[in-house]
Order: sequence, then structure tokens, then C-alpha cells
Amino acid sequence: MSRAELTKIILPEEKIPKFWYNVQADMPNPLAPSLHPQTMQPLTPADLEPIFARELIAQEVSDERFIEIPAEVRELYKQYRPSPLFRAHNLEKALDTNSRIYYKYEGISPVGSHKFNSALPQVFFNKIQGIKRISTETGAGQWGTALSLACKLFGLEAMVYMVKVSYFQKPYRRSIMELYGATCIPSPSNLTAAGRQALEKDPDTPGSLGMAISEAVEDAVSRDDTNYSLGSVLNHVCLHQSIIGQEVKLQMDMVDDYPDVVIGCCGGGSNFAGIAFPFIPDKLAGKKIRLLGVEPAACPTLTKGIFAYDYGDVVGLTPAMKMYTLGHDFVPSGIHAGGLRYHGAAPLLSQLYHDGLIEAIAVKQNAAFEAAMLFARTESIVPAPESAHAIRAAIDEALKAKEEGVTRTIVFNLSGHGNLDLYSYDKFLAGETEDVEFSDEELAVSIKDLPEVK
Ligand SMILES: Cc1ncc(COP(=O)(O)O)c(C=O)c1O
Repeated sequence: MSRAELTKIILPEEKIPKFWYNVQADMPNPLAPSLHPQTMQPLTPADLEPIFARELIAQEVSDERFIEIPAEVRELYKQYRPSPLFRAHNLEKALDTNSRIYYKYEGISPVGSHKFNSALPQVFFNKIQGIKRISTETGAGQWGTALSLACKLFGLEAMVYMVKVSYFQKPYRRSIMELYGATCIPSPSNLTAAGRQALEKDPDTPGSLGMAISEAVEDAVSRDDTNYSLGSVLNHVCLHQSIIGQEVKLQMDMVDDYPDVVIGCCGGGSNFAGIAFPFIPDKLAGKKIRLLGVEPAACPTLTKGIFAYDYGDVVGLTPAMKMYTLGHDFVPSGIHAGGLRYHGAAPLLSQLYHDGLIEAIAVKQNAAFEAAMLFARTESIVPAPESAHAIRAAIDEALKAKEEGVTRTIVFNLSGHGNLDLYSYDKFLAGETEDVEFSDEELAVSIKDLPEVK
């Protein structure tokens, strides 16, 4: 069998990267500084110390191209990394396309998604600093599950605020978190002032990631033994996820191929950053490669939002970051891709999008589910509803290439499996999933409370 016919492209364990790749070293325009939420002055590392480990703060502002992965983290990566790159032969056949479609399968991690790639180092760096407990938010529950397991493995306690609509849509994610020894409660909750304020405003709110972040940050600020951890958006999270794209490059070399387009779904942006950023140096060196982020039409941060300073949470406890945003108090409709219901996009992704190095599109919920169903029926894996957005775009790229009479190499990130998202699939199969689109009128309202920056 020729290499081009391989179905799974597997790297040996010793090829797990020894360094994370930091795109900050190569960006044509550096990031705008994040601002202190009260003073609106540029943030200092000391401002972050009450809730983040020092190593993570250093990574947040580092401009070193490569940052070493600690041996303890690499050891735990070995359980599931390098993750396989699959050639989607059956999907290609179903689409009757000459294009080659590959997917990097991050659902192979013990928690079912890419989120474990960052949970492990985040908890590790907190542990070596003597932190005993971590608070966090979770949307669909993937991040909360990853953090819960990482905390158990390193001997820390985990407190997870899970967005209310997802808590009820995906009850088994809570079961897993509790099995790993974490506490998981629906957000907004009565445990924090931020939660009580949100419930007072709207007792029936579905919750949002921005709201759950406010609760988790407040929890961490109020206790000396606790730090806060975020599953996306921040520079150090995108850094940790770079392990995905670095492996993909080696795997594409193994089959003598190179992507025309690299695709990932976008919530806060970490899995897309992870697969796409390691290709940025090639693009800057003149390679013809497109990097395409895919967001939900119900929460189209990059494609409809504005590039401005905004908070990462509803209350305004986090620093103000320059990013594409739909407004920090925007509550997206309760689409089933809970992990994509975030008002902002990672500042790194935002700057690169602003500079034209990255493209973005928005897709509707049912179009994503239809793509997921075709994928399950051809490639056998039930994808997470978030990842389904990337599948939709990959299929559309292949169909477009067919129409144009060209052959393309398409690579996408299958960021997680959907084995615990069956309630959502039931709703889709019953024809009960809505196509919600975000309107310009909604944007005008949702961005009216952006922080003022002089
Ligand atoms: C499987 C999966 N993919 C993607 C995302 C979106 O997050 P990010 O954009 O940070 O990768 C999530 C978030 O929960 C997720 O669970």
C-alpha cells in the first residue's frame, strides 16, 4: 500500500513534541496589551498573580518561539498522544470528490476532546506552586471534564461552574466530573455574587460561558488556596494546543502531502489555534495555505463582531482584552454546540484575523448537524456538535473544489467525540433543532456596554 493510501497516520510516542510553539514570536503585529478591568491601564504580571500560576503568566506574555513542555506533562501526554491523523477515505467516496480530506482526532484523549492538552499543564504549573484547588467554568462540559481529571491526577481539588443549559443537555458530563472527584454545579448559581446578580436579572437564563467565568473568577479571588483556570481564549491555552498542529505537520510529511486549507471550529479559539498556528510561519514564508475558523451563526464572533477591547466575562472581573467580540453580556441562544457559545475570540486569533492571516465563516446549527450525521455514517465516529462545524466547512471545501474541477488537500480538527451529546443528536433527528442567526440589530444592542478605553 502506498503511503498516500494510509487511513490512519500514526506517529511513535517519541515524536510527541518537546516544545509548544508560541505564535507571538512570529506575528507581524504584536498583541495590544490587556488592560486592568478597574484602571484600564496595561496589565502587569503581578495583577494576574492572585488567580494564575506564575509560569502560566510568563507564558501569557512570552515572545519566545518555543517553550519547553515539562517532562511530567509529556509523560501524561503519552497516554493519548500523538493523536492519529485519519484520511477520510469513506467520506471522500460519499462526496465523490478527488480532494483529500484528513482529520486530526483529538477525541482520542481520555476525556474525549483537545481540552486535556491544556488542562494537564495548567494544573501542573499550579501544583508546583502549592495551589490546592482550581475553579473553572465549562460550556458543554468538555473543559470541565478535562480539568477535573487533570486535578485528580495531580492531587488538586476541582470546582466547576457549568453553563446551565448544557448542565441539563449533557448530564453525563457532570457524572464524569464527579467520578473524577470534582464538584460541578449549574451556572448561574447562588454561590457567588455574580451568579445571584444574573439570577435576579433573569431567573430563567440559560447561562453563558461569560457568566460562568465571572463565577469561577470570583470563587478564586475569594480563596487563598484556589487559582482560576480558563479552557480557551488566553495566550497560554493557545500555546498548549499548538501540540496538535505540530503533530499534523509531521503526519502530513509522512504521506508527502501538505494542506491547502486547515480548518477548526471556533469557540474561544483554542483548538483552531492549536491546529492552525504552527502553519503561520509557513504562510508568512509564502506558502499558499488557508487557515479557516468556523463559528456558529448563532454566535458569530469573528464574522460579525467588532475588534475592540472587551471583558472576558459578563461582570467585568477579567482583564479587558483586544479581541473580536459580540459584547461581554451577550447571551447566545442555547445551541447544542455549547462550547461555541462564547462572546469573544482569543486575542491571538483576533489579531491574526484582523491582519488577514486567518479566515472565518459562520455555519447554521442544522447544517453542522447534517455534516456530523454524514460523517458518522461514513467515518463511524460521532463528532462533538462543536467539531461538526469544522466538518461542515471541510465538506463544503471539498464540494467547492469539485465544482471548480480542482483537487485540494483539506485538513480539519476533529476536536472531540460526541458520545455524550446524544440528547442533542436526538433533538436533531426529531427535527427539533433551530437555526438561530445573530442579527445586526442584536449586535447593536450587545456591544453597547463595551468598556471605555482612552
Ligand atoms: C469538542 C470541542 N471543540 C471545540 C470547543 C470550542 O473551544 P475552543 O474554541 O477553545 O477550541 C469545545 C469547547 O468546549 C469543545 O468541547
